[in-house]
Amino acid sequence: MKHIVVLTGAGMSAESGIATFRDSGGLWEQYAIEDVATPEGFRRDPELVLNFYNERRKAAFDAKPNLGHIGLAEMEADYKISIITQNVDDLHERAGSTNVIHLHGELSKVRSTMDPSLIYTLTTDNSEIHMGDKCEKGSQLRPHIVWFGEAVPMIEKAMKVVQTADYLVVIGTSLNVYPAAGLLNYIEPGIPIFLIDPNEVKATQKGIHFIHKGASDGVAELRELLKF
Ligand code: APR
Repeated sequence: MKHIVVLTGAGMSAESGIATFRDSGGLWEQYAIEDVATPEGFRRDPELVLNFYNERRKAAFDAKPNLGHIGLAEMEADYKISIITQNVDDLHERAGSTNVIHLHGELSKVRSTMDPSLIYTLTTDNSEIHMGDKCEKGSQLRPHIVWFGEAVPMIEKAMKVVQTADYLVVIGTSLNVYPAAGLLNYIEPGIPIFLIDPNEVKATQKGIHFIHKGASDGVAELRELLKF
């Protein structure tokens, strides 16, 4: 089976009603990154940060996988599919994808501030954490999210996966944030790259096949193209 590696970003979940970051109306127009997505912001005003993620978690739990997520899951019947996502929602998994690497963490999980190996999963009827909610060792819980300035523990695994790709598909990311965006530099020379995005995306790699559509229609077009 051919191995297709799919790098997804916030645009993958846009058609599920989840805001992107840098489109007009995106999250970073409503919140300052340093206030809600950095360790310093958490130290400065932890309740603000916890509530920011409580809101995003609820929106993600309420959202449904779109036809793009579902199409990628269906492709597992004909290809080995590895999804490397920058997204923190679980829509790929809920669509049925079985091989998903979350580079920037997961909204459905929280962890101990003292022992990062203590990770807990939240559910729709227990979706919030607040100051005073503690791990079993008595330290404050925090979102299991990679904040700006923090290490990206899954990046080494993602680099290895990308190096074994027969095709690379990039969906719904502005390729603004590293090291995720740098993964394109790890594919073997000559491997076809497809990029699905309704807008222009600056990518320096040669020979990218742009599909200027949204995720749902773009994945459908990709599946047609791969048949030949
Ligand atoms: N289908 C596909 N792509 C879309 C759609 C859609 N329906 N709507 C918008 N897009 C595209 C936009 O054109 C843009 O290129 O999705 C991309 C979203 O880019 P960003 O908002 O920058 O999101 P992303 O690239 O995932 O951001 C990377 O930045 O803030 C951090 O940790 C956060 O993981 C995030 C990282």
